[in-house]
Amino acid sequence: MGLLLNRVITIQLWVLVALAIRNPIIPGWNPDPSIIRVGDEYFLATSSFEYWPSTPIYKSKDLANWELYSHAFTKPSQAQLYGVPTGAGTWAPTLSLINGKYYMASMTRWTYDPVARVWPRVMWVSSHDLKTWSDPIWGDAWGIDPSLFQDPATQKVYLNLMAPNNNVDRIWGIYQCQVDVDSGRCIGEYRSIWNGTLAHNSSARPEGPKMFKRDSWYYLLIAEGGTDDLHRASIARSTSPEGPWETAPNNPILFNGAYGYDNLTVQSTGHATHFDTPDGESYLAFLARRKINGSSPLGRETFLSPVQWKNGWPIVNGGEPIRLSQSFGSTRDQVSTPKPFTDNFDGANLDPSWYQLRIPYTQNFMMKKNSANGITFKPNVFGLSDRDTPAAILRKQKSLNMTFSAQLLPTKSGLGYGETVGISAYLSELQHQDIAVSAFAPTNWFVFEGASFALFATGTGQPWPSHAPEVGFSRVTETYYEENIPDYDKW
Ligand SMILES: *[C@@H]1O[C@H](CO)[C@@H](O)[C@H](O)[C@H]1NC(C)=O
Ligand SMILES: *[C@@H]1O[C@H](CO)[C@@H](O)[C@H](O)[C@H]1NC(C)=O
Ligand SMILES: *[C@@H]1O[C@H](CO)[C@@H](O)[C@H](O)[C@H]1NC(C)=O
Ligand SMILES: *[C@@H]1O[C@H](CO)[C@@H](O)[C@H](O)[C@H]1NC(C)=O
Ligand SMILES: *[C@@H]1O[C@H](CO)[C@@H](O)[C@H](O)[C@H]1NC(C)=O
Repeated sequence: MGLLLNRVITIQLWVLVALAIRNPIIPGWNPDPSIIRVGDEYFLATSSFEYWPSTPIYKSKDLANWELYSHAFTKPSQAQLYGVPTGAGTWAPTLSLINGKYYMASMTRWTYDPVARVWPRVMWVSSHDLKTWSDPIWGDAWGIDPSLFQDPATQKVYLNLMAPNNNVDRIWGIYQCQVDVDSGRCIGEYRSIWNGTLAHNSSARPEGPKMFKRDSWYYLLIAEGGTDDLHRASIARSTSPEGPWETAPNNPILFNGAYGYDNLTVQSTGHATHFDTPDGESYLAFLARRKINGSSPLGRETFLSPVQWKNGWPIVNGGEPIRLSQSFGSTRDQVSTPKPFTDNFDGANLDPSWYQLRIPYTQNFMMKKNSANGITFKPNVFGLSDRDTPAAILRKQKSLNMTFSAQLLPTKSGLGYGETVGISAYLSELQHQDIAVSAFAPTNWFVFEGASFALFATGTGQPWPSHAPEVGFSRVTETYYEENIPDYDKW
């Protein structure tokens, strides 16, 4: 009897452990994760580019189940998104704790067009609760992927970022200065600190520097190889946050591309951030994309892997590549197939999982409150193809096996020429499939962001006529099915 009981308990424990944390931990496009632990809770920020409000912060207690907690940029004074193309806008946040206050360093990239002669600018905001954030402090340096690090030994604060050697040959590297967080000014020498592990030319792109201290070592964790197939994570260490930096013997410490670009489903692993749990377990949160049948319609999602330490160096996932079938950790089960999402638009405000594009400067939707619940649009001249703010709300596509449906509100009269209301599978202002229920991505499209589902209405270049009918939706339903995605793509 005792033996039998023992066996039953053993089997149950095994099932619990086997179903623990599964990747991606935050499905749907959520690249460039930065994680911070506050007691026994974790907060994780990701890039949101031209979406508004900007820079979501997710919260979890168990690392497996994450809820949307807040957005860092909710006021136009905090993020400049006017006219930005898809993939530009606000990038690569880093959360840190400095003098008892939370900071988020980030940057704005207004355009990719070199003719415009506008360069990415770094800034940071601060908060006491990770919910309400200050206006930005703009940094002295120009570059990408800024992060702030306070040395626990000296209390000095450092700005680390990816920056060009000069504005002519644009060879990027990791740069640093000691910084005054209140003014944004460099108060120490601005210097190149590491060029990564690859041949140092314009395609190496050492980026996403994250600095942390563990035991007696300072670590500098970076991404390299560009954001596509060659994307990877590498690390160096030093006895000082100012270097000199010693490169890990096992770099890159995370690189699924080493096994071929069209073989493993999980690709573009990198832009990692390290943390320890209260129990002393170590993890990396990082971005990766699921390449299925040669394309990644969900873009770059947030993944997690366990880390072991050996001789003061990290070994990610036991040195094995990241596979979707893998699970780890000993927290309670992750909900693998989410419950359906239904929105009847019956609250006072829109659910925070809906986004708008760029910065809305006129109110373009309303929650309908009188006869029936719903959302009604105040359409403007812009549509989903414009680099502006159409009357549209968007939700990230969160699964590779799901449906999205929306119920139109009845209209009092017919629509005139150009007056349009519909739904869209939206990838960019250049690629969106309107009145469609399933997403797509061209195989040669580099998925900087992933797809969203949109509800929209537009006057198609004309103001919405005053005699035109009110248009809107009464309900949205998303149904998720089991995702049967193999470890290997092999297309
Ligand atoms: C990185 O490369 C630049 C040239 O692009 C060089 O000036 C700099 O000294 C290098 N930095 C380090 C730390 O080696
Ligand atoms: C950078 O160096 C690598 C390795 O030698 C090479 O494959 C790549 O083409 C180079 N890129 C540029 C822009 O020169
Ligand atoms: C994919 O990679 C795995 C691991 O290296 C290897 O065993 C397998 O043969 C590869 N498959 C293809 C189709 O290349
Ligand atoms: C990949 O393609 C196969 C064959 O066309 C199809 O059965 C499968 O559903 C596709 N997978 C996804 C996730 O779209
Ligand atoms: C989608 O879900 C259905 C129903 O659960 C399942 O039969 C199918 O294998 C799933 N397809 C993929 C590509 O995950």
